[in-house]
Amino acid sequence: MSLFRTKPVEQSIEDAEGGEHRLRRSLSALDLTVFGIGVIVGTGIFVLTGVAARNTAGPAVAISFVVAGIVCALAALCYAEFAATVPVAGSAYTYAYATIGEFPAWIIGWDLMLELALGAAVVASGWSGYFASLLKNFGIYLPSSIAGDEAVFNIPAALIVIVLTGVLVAGIKMSARFNGAMVAVKLAVVLLVIIAGMFFIKGANYRPFVPPSHHMAAGEGMKAPLIQVLFGVEPVAYGVFGVFTAAALVFFAYIGFDVVATAAEETRRPQRDLPIGIIASLVVCTILYVAVSLVVVGMQHYSELSASAPLADAFRSVGQPWMATLISVGAIAGLTTVVMILMLGQSRVLFAMCRDSLLPRSLAKVHPTFRTPYRITIVIGAATALLAALIPLSAIAELVNIGTLFAFVIVAMAVVVLRRTRPDLPRSFRTPFVPVVPILSVLASAYLMLNLPVETWIRFFAWMVVGAVVYFLYGRRRSRVAATTPGEAVLER
Ligand code: ALA
Repeated sequence: MSLFRTKPVEQSIEDAEGGEHRLRRSLSALDLTVFGIGVIVGTGIFVLTGVAARNTAGPAVAISFVVAGIVCALAALCYAEFAATVPVAGSAYTYAYATIGEFPAWIIGWDLMLELALGAAVVASGWSGYFASLLKNFGIYLPSSIAGDEAVFNIPAALIVIVLTGVLVAGIKMSARFNGAMVAVKLAVVLLVIIAGMFFIKGANYRPFVPPSHHMAAGEGMKAPLIQVLFGVEPVAYGVFGVFTAAALVFFAYIGFDVVATAAEETRRPQRDLPIGIIASLVVCTILYVAVSLVVVGMQHYSELSASAPLADAFRSVGQPWMATLISVGAIAGLTTVVMILMLGQSRVLFAMCRDSLLPRSLAKVHPTFRTPYRITIVIGAATALLAALIPLSAIAELVNIGTLFAFVIVAMAVVVLRRTRPDLPRSFRTPFVPVVPILSVLASAYLMLNLPVETWIRFFAWMVVGAVVYFLYGRRRSRVAATTPGEAVLER
């Protein structure tokens, strides 16, 4: 049963207050909301809108954004309760440790690497594409072997990761300021797209809003969605089902609101401010996404939208190429903060795992001046830079979705478990209608997971098996919680 030993909430909170493993509490609700927007608005809205509208949803892609937003809102309500009750750095990992047990918690921590480190690497390689295209406007051409999708060694992607690692080490407040400046640029560009774009909307482009459905050439073999393989569901483009399929795709655009919870130990009043930060950033982004997608499909017929740069190309199509340059600047600023905050989240989750000795505890040391977990941040920066430089990431981007959705499922279940096992805990934010909302959250996230390709599921399981092996070889015997559980053998540390 030791696999399921839990770590009491009180012990987690106490660890967060301890000496050399203590972070600096300096963030406000506004900082957290801006962090949330910083990490959410990125590749999803700047790139995926085009593919989703063109191939799967038509103008109704705006509804797909609403659907994905609702799935996220259900999860956000669950995260908010936990973040307020257990305001400790590890987010879903810590919540699982408090409720379901050590091994599931480890698995979740391991799983979060798909969302956070892999997500950061994916977005960094997207960043290098925009960067190279912006340089082109100034007559500078980077060879395709060192930048963009086909790069052998993607140098700009690796460099941006290294620079951002430096910012993260330099302090949470510094990271918040840098983030604030970048978010201002990207929000300005997004608002400009909405306002300027409204003048070019043609009503005819909205008709039909939900194009009639037709069968799609099915993804073959490994590329087919799991739901199709398991239940023989026919893949359709457009129509009502198309709207839902596109929701699974644009889900990527929302990834990140949960990262707000990883900043729990750096928040001044976590009980109040974490729920505000998580929910406010999600609400703001949902409104922006629906507005942007409505404008873009109004400007250009959905069948003509570009797959790589739909926002910029929609403006080109109405004879406003100057907007394309501005949008590239907004995308670069936007993707920069996505990479940075995903890495921030990753460092805080691994920091919590190291502090619990499931990974080497020495990596959880906090810098004496900057009060950041600098060692683990540097390790993550190096690994992410290498990943971003070497691996053709567009192929494995869906792993980021599955990793995130899996964490949502566990957190929603954990809310119900903690209500039963620890009804006494003070909860400054309570998920409404428990257990209905958590159950809906589990079902909605599971549905989106089923829409992912079979090959993504296989990679996901392979990664989890590696995680389980690491746990049995290392963490299981060294765990600090084991040290305090009677009758458990613990190695000397
Ligand atoms: N939500 C983030 C993006 O769209 C990951 O880039």
